[in-house]
Formats: sequence, structure tokens, C-alpha cells
Amino acid sequence: MAVNDFIRDNKDRFLNELLDLLRIPSVSADPKFKKDVFAAANFVKESLEKAGADTVEICETPGYPIVYGEKIIDPALKTVLVYGHYDVQPADPYELWDSPPFEPVIKKTKIHPEGAIFARGSADDKGQFYMYVKAFEAMMASGDLPCNVKFMIEGEEEVGSDNLEKFVIENKEKLKADVILISDTHMISMQDPSITVGLRGMAYMEVEVTGSNRDLHSGTYGGAVANPINVLCDMIASMKDENDHITIPGFYDKVQELTAAQRERLNEAPFDLNEYQDKLDIEAVHGEKDYTTIERVGIRPTLDVNGIWGGYIGEGAKTVLPSKAHAKISMRLVPDQDWHEISELFENYFKSIAPKSVKVKVKAHHGGAPAVVSDSSVGYKAAEAAMEETFGKKPIPTREGGSIPIVALFQKELGSDPILFGFGLDTDALHSPNEHYGVKNYFIGIETIAAFFGQFRKLIDK
Ligand code: BES
Ligand code: MN
Ligand code: MN
Repeated sequence: MAVNDFIRDNKDRFLNELLDLLRIPSVSADPKFKKDVFAAANFVKESLEKAGADTVEICETPGYPIVYGEKIIDPALKTVLVYGHYDVQPADPYELWDSPPFEPVIKKTKIHPEGAIFARGSADDKGQFYMYVKAFEAMMASGDLPCNVKFMIEGEEEVGSDNLEKFVIENKEKLKADVILISDTHMISMQDPSITVGLRGMAYMEVEVTGSNRDLHSGTYGGAVANPINVLCDMIASMKDENDHITIPGFYDKVQELTAAQRERLNEAPFDLNEYQDKLDIEAVHGEKDYTTIERVGIRPTLDVNGIWGGYIGEGAKTVLPSKAHAKISMRLVPDQDWHEISELFENYFKSIAPKSVKVKVKAHHGGAPAVVSDSSVGYKAAEAAMEETFGKKPIPTREGGSIPIVALFQKELGSDPILFGFGLDTDALHSPNEHYGVKNYFIGIETIAAFFGQFRKLIDK
């Protein structure tokens, strides 16, 4: 109880500190924000120190640093490892924000009647990992930290966590823990708490299609020389059939098909198609034949164009037959697809379907493995019990469409299943203008995390 008293008595400060963190534009993708990303790492270090960590280090990498901190109260006790990321996505397009992305404001919404914090990174992931710093502080302050705790907060999640793998492999002893907690996903709703047990992987590609060696007059040459934009569109269109099945040979070879019973269980989660469509202002959903929306997102792979460009896009009309066309294409993957293999299959197929009239280049960007985590580990049971304490309801296990590639890395290298203990909502506009995080979500998250520590200690001592 003392822990919850402390949280209640420090509400304003807990909120204001998060707002301070959100004011730092720690965009990892854009070198323009380099200083700010380092500043965010420092902020995390200082807040862990203030909260009561014994040692906090800024671990340099060739990219952005990993902040590591720990509090070992008794080596004989169990240890919780917390992972999160202090970097954020670019805020573009700025003009679509109702308030500046790095000047957080609290506004009420229909879904968040108590108010939500509007700022880039509020839900992904500053608002979520910071809950651990505050829960830790509250447990320390009330003399009630039931387990040892370690923090590993990185600054390159949004750009593929390139340097984290090496860090994890080289620091296995340091990172040794009995359970890993990650809050970087969402729940079904405030009324239907859930815990994520599956994430998709990713293979991200960029393609370039070249026609003639220079831009051409579309009258003089149009109809006689390949237009690389038209060709690229045809090629992309041919990568899916009429059932929205991806046509790359071998693409589905390693996809795990779920049993009818597993699929039924997945579809038992509350989901209202009309509400889903209404919230997105769409008349109909769209996806692979014979799968429900929950399945399309949770257990099926995808191929999506993220951006496509070429030719003239300025004011007015310019008649031109462009020399080049480009696209960024991502594929979300499911167990047991391997992103290196899929990237290669894509590259071979893309080259094979290109007509002779164009030249193509294919480049693989980052990728990551899909992951499924157990819903019967002690950690999961403790998380379930903690949510029951604070939400008054048993959480539903769900499989989400997003990717956190380091989850599979943790499973492999640290030998333990992370608990995907997200407190956001899918309407929080992650990676989008007007990203926000419910004030209530923030505080119930802090309380649930503190409850987790108690539950984990209780279950493991049994
Ligand atoms: N927090 C997200 C992942 C996420 C969001 C998982 C919502 C489940 C639900 C994470 O920061 C993210 O954006 N991941 C990227 C992948 C990464 C390799 C850039 C993604 O999913 O696009
Ligand atoms: Mn995230
Ligand atoms: Mn993200």
C-alpha cells in the first residue's frame, strides 16, 4: 500500500518529469538530432540515479548509447531486467500535428476522458519505459523493492537496434535476470487488459527501377520506351494475387499454420469490426482471404509499400517520362520465417519479374525476427496477477502486428521469455502525427509494474 501512496502523493512530479523527457527530440533516424539523442540518454541516466539505482552507466556503442542501471538489494533474490527505448520516430509530417510534437500538452479525448499526453514518443516508448523508473523510485522510497532490478534502455530501437545485439552477447553475465519486462506494445482497451504473446518480424527493402539514361519528353518517347514508374507499379501489383496472397516463390514455406483450436482462441479476444472501421474512417477492411482481421495482423505475413517516388511531383503539370522510380517495401514476418532468407527471396523474385526494358537494384535495409512468448511462465503468471490487481480483470493473451526484433534476440541469448507488458492503446497514433499516451494509462502502468514485482516475488518464492 505504501508504494501506491507514494505514487499518489507524487503524481504531478511523475507526470512533469515525463513531460521534460518528451521535450527532448531524440529522433534516432535523423542525424540532425544527434545531440538530443545523447541528451535523452543522459536524462535517463540521471533519472535512474535519482530513483535510487546503485550504478548507472552510459554504455557507448558505434551508434547511440545504451543506458544500463541496476539496484541489487540481495544477490540471493530474483532479478527483473527492464528493456525500453529512449529514441523516437521522426515527427514528420509536422503540419499534421495539432500541437508541436516536442512541446507536450495534455488534452482530453473520447478514449482518454482523463486526458492524454500529446507528444512524439509519449506512447512509443518514453511514456512506457519511464513507468519503470517511477515504479522503481516508488518501491525504493517506500522501502519495498522485492526483487533486484536491472535497466537496459537503448537509443536505436526505431532504426533497427543495430548495436544492441553485440551488447547483449558481450554482457550476458551483467544482464542475467529471471525475467525480462518490456512495455512497448498495447492492450486491447482499458476495459480489456491484455498481454502480448506474439510479435511479427520484418524484412525491409528498397528498390530502384531505371528506364532510359535520362528523363525524356513523354510525347517524343512515351509509348515507345519503358516508364519505370509504370513498370514498378506493375511489378508491385504482381507480388500479390487476387486473394492478397504474396506471390514470391517460397515466401510461405516456413510460415507456421495455427490449428483450428488456436485460431479460435485467438479470435475470442474482444474485437468489434464496425468500431475498428469507424475509428479509421474506412468502409471496409482489406486483407488476405479466409483470415479475420485479428489473424491478418497477428499471425499472417504482409508485403506493404511504405513509400514510392519518382518523376514530377511539383506544382502544375510537367510532361516527363522519368528515368527512375523508387519504392520502400516492408514485409512483416511470422514464425518461422527468417528475414535474411525472405530478403533474398524478395530480391531474386523482384529481379526475375523485371522486364528487359528496365534495370533494377534491390537493397535490404534492416530486418528482425518474429517472436512468440509463453503464456505459462512464472513471469507471465505474475504479470497476469498484477493486472488482475490493478484492472480487476484477467488479461487476455494477444498477438500483435508490430515488431520488436530484440525480443527474439533476448530469447536466444538470455534464455528467458520477455513479458510484453504494454499499457498503450492501438489508437495512440504511434509513428503518426498527434501521438499520445493516456495519463491514466501512465499511472495504472506504474501501479501494475509495482504490483508485478510483488507478485513475481510471491510466485517465485512458492
Ligand atoms: N513499439 C514499437 C513496436 C510495436 C508497436 C509493437 C505496437 C506492437 C505494437 C516499436 O518501437 C517499433 O516501432 N518497431 C518497428 C520495428 C523496428 C525494426 C523499426 C515497427 O514495428 O515498425
Ligand atoms: Mn517502441
Ligand atoms: Mn516505434
